[in-house]
Amino acid sequence: MKILVTGGTGYIGSHTVVELQQSGYEVVIADNLCNSNAGVLDGIARITGVRPAFEELDLTEGEKVRELFARHRDIGAVIHFAALKAVGESVQKPLEYYRNNLNSLMNVLASMRECGVKHLVFSSSCTVYGQADVLPVTEQTPRKPAESPYGNTKTMCEDILRDVAKVEQGMNLLALRYFNPIGAHPSACIGELPNGVPNNLIPYLTQTVAGIREQLSVFGDDYHTPDGSAIRDYIDVVDLARAHVVAIRRLMEGKNKANYEYFNIGTGNGLSVLELIRAFERATGEKVNYKIVGRRAGDIEQVWADTTLANRELGWKAEVPIEETLANAWKWQKHLME
Ligand code: NAD
Ligand code: WQD
Repeated sequence: MKILVTGGTGYIGSHTVVELQQSGYEVVIADNLCNSNAGVLDGIARITGVRPAFEELDLTEGEKVRELFARHRDIGAVIHFAALKAVGESVQKPLEYYRNNLNSLMNVLASMRECGVKHLVFSSSCTVYGQADVLPVTEQTPRKPAESPYGNTKTMCEDILRDVAKVEQGMNLLALRYFNPIGAHPSACIGELPNGVPNNLIPYLTQTVAGIREQLSVFGDDYHTPDGSAIRDYIDVVDLARAHVVAIRRLMEGKNKANYEYFNIGTGNGLSVLELIRAFERATGEKVNYKIVGRRAGDIEQVWADTTLANRELGWKAEVPIEETLANAWKWQKHLME
């Protein structure tokens, strides 16, 4: 069975391609390489022994997407990762974000309908919850108005899936709401590719320890949390990748309970920024040079997932201990500098 993985040379996509191939699926990747490079295919091949088929194309071009589906008539399901994802940049370039993220999804759905491809797994985000009133967040927790155009594209894409599922009864659409994906494959053959100065905590932290950045800024120690720093649910990228394999299997085996479903994908544990720094130091024996600074605009105070639904319905659970995840993130950083 062939799976189309859009954005498959990206961070989460590449780890998912590895898990899919290791579970016996054939993969074709479609990516325009706007935030990744074709060298990732070598990394995937080193781990799995199989180089996935690769189609370089921009998914906002509907005709190109149609031709892609025509070239691969045996696509049985799609995992749609392709999107622009930088929150701050989306505030500066809202049109680019709406155009890229919405058109890509709509083109993929239109071609699926034309070609009779039934199953799709979509990358959503805990960003749709904003600062929830009650923690942990369940799938029933109300979504809040998005803080950024990027976040809004996730809410809007979820709405598109819900509306399409209502009329396309033969289609099965499933959104995974990721919490904070971190880490890298334990082989250090693939991982997150830094693009300029990182905004996210872990790449900034590992680059600081590597001497590329002078000091990590911890954004705020005056939150209403036990140590004052903000809390997130950090999910290992290989655990996250595995969630896609079980989601695909659920759809292909017809085990879904509705033709649009959504699941939280996190560990179920909240960790503060300061706790994460300590865990990194324990895991690697390295010292993190950091200072406390003011809060970052737009940050929420705390969020972590209730993963009961994914545990029960998908039979999936996060397994990698945080120290192992952080050790893999460090191993990947060192690999990037070789
Ligand atoms: P990434 O940037 O590493 O991967 C996305 C890939 O999509 C890149 O390889 C990029 O080149 C490709 N792409 C983007 N627009 C495209 C287009 N129009 N046509 C073809 N390819 C295109 O990002 P990631 O961290 O792997 O994220 C994957 C998905 O997960 C995204 O949808 C993202 O919004 C979502 N997500 C990510 C996080 C996170 O923290 N990393 C959290 C929640 C949700
Ligand atoms: C984590 C924590 C920061 C950098 C973002 C998106 C979200 C989702 C995941 C896609 C926060 C603190 C960070 C630094 C710090 N992506 N921090 N110093 O903001 O939780 O989520 O990625 O859907 O939509 O918003 O992730 O890694 O940027 O921050 O203290 O240099 O680390 O304040 O508490 P975030 P992050």
